[in-house]
Amino acid sequence: MDVALEKRQVERAYELYAPVYDFIFDWIFAPGRAAAIKQCGIVPSDTVLEVGIGTGLNLPLYPATCRLTGIDLSGEMLDKAVERVQNLAMPNVTLKVMDATSMDFGDNEFDKALATYTISAVPDPVAVLREMRRVVKPGGTLVILNHFRSERRVTGWLEDLVAPVCTRLGWKSNLALKPLLVEVGLTPELVHQVNMFNGWRLVKCVNRK
Ligand SMILES: C[S@@+](CC[C@H](N)C(=O)[O-])C[C@H]1O[C@@H](n2cnc3c(N)ncnc32)[C@H](O)[C@@H]1O
Repeated sequence: MDVALEKRQVERAYELYAPVYDFIFDWIFAPGRAAAIKQCGIVPSDTVLEVGIGTGLNLPLYPATCRLTGIDLSGEMLDKAVERVQNLAMPNVTLKVMDATSMDFGDNEFDKALATYTISAVPDPVAVLREMRRVVKPGGTLVILNHFRSERRVTGWLEDLVAPVCTRLGWKSNLALKPLLVEVGLTPELVHQVNMFNGWRLVKCVNRK
C-alpha cells in the first residue's frame, strides 16, 4: 500500500520533532554530514543552498568563506537553526522559511546545493530535485544524502512493509534512488554508503543542463 506524504503532515511532524531533533539525530547522522559537505567541494565565495536545513546541524561544517542560504518548510526547525547561526556567529548565512517544491529563487543562482536527510522527508522529492536543478548553475554540484530503498530483496521488502507507518511519522522508508534520479535527469558521479550499517547513501551529481 502506498501512502502519500502530505505537506501538512510534514509540517506537523517537524513542529513536534524540533525540540528533540538534535538530541536524537545529531550523533547518529554525523559521519554522513561531514562526508556530504566534503563532497560539495566548497571553494571561497561559493554560493551554496541547503534544502531542508532543519535545525542547522550542518552549519558548523561549512567554511566561513562561502555564502550559504538555508531553507526549510518548518518554522519550528528553522528557529533552532537561527539560534545556531547566532551562537556560531555566522554572518555568511541566510535562513528562510520556504517550500523547496517551489523556491523563491531565480534560475542558476547557486554554485552548489545540498540536501541531507531531507529528500525522503518531503512530500514531492521529484519536484524538490527539479527545483534544485533549476536554481543551481550549469556544471554546479548537487549533493544528496539520504536513506533509500535497499536493492537487497528482503531489506527492500521490509522497508515497503513499514512504509505506511514511517509515512505517518513524516518520512518515506522506501524511496528508490535510481528511478528518482532518472525522473529528474540526473546521473550520479559518485554514490557512497555512509553512517551506521552503511544504511545511508551519499550521492553527488553534476548539474548538466
Ligand atoms: C529529517 S529533517 C533533516 C534536517 C537537516 N537537513 C539535517 O540534516 O538534520 C527533514 C527536513 O526537511 C524539511 N522539509 C520537508 N519538506 C520540505 C519542503 N517541501 N521544503 C523545505 N523543507 C522541507 C523538514 O521541515 C525537516 O526540517
